[in-house]
Amino acid sequence: MKKAKVAGTTPQIEQLEEGKTYAWCTCGKSENQPWCNGAHKGSEFTPKIFKEEESKTAALCMCKQTKNPPYCDGSHANL
Ligand code: FES
Repeated sequence: MKKAKVAGTTPQIEQLEEGKTYAWCTCGKSENQPWCNGAHKGSEFTPKIFKEEESKTAALCMCKQTKNPPYCDGSHANL
């Protein structure tokens, strides 16, 4: 699989709401990071759809290399 574009080298802190569905950009091309804006069209990437069970503040991966998407796992430190 092709490597995703690095959209940022630090995670983005987001307030996520209980029961809401989110589409996290996996390709790195969205101009509305960390969310999918459809820029992946025509590539092998698709957004990661996820739903939060509880409202929380989360660090979302921006480098797109995390092993625990959509959350930051510190992979940006190895870029
Ligand atoms: S724009 Fe990147 S996955 Fe949709």
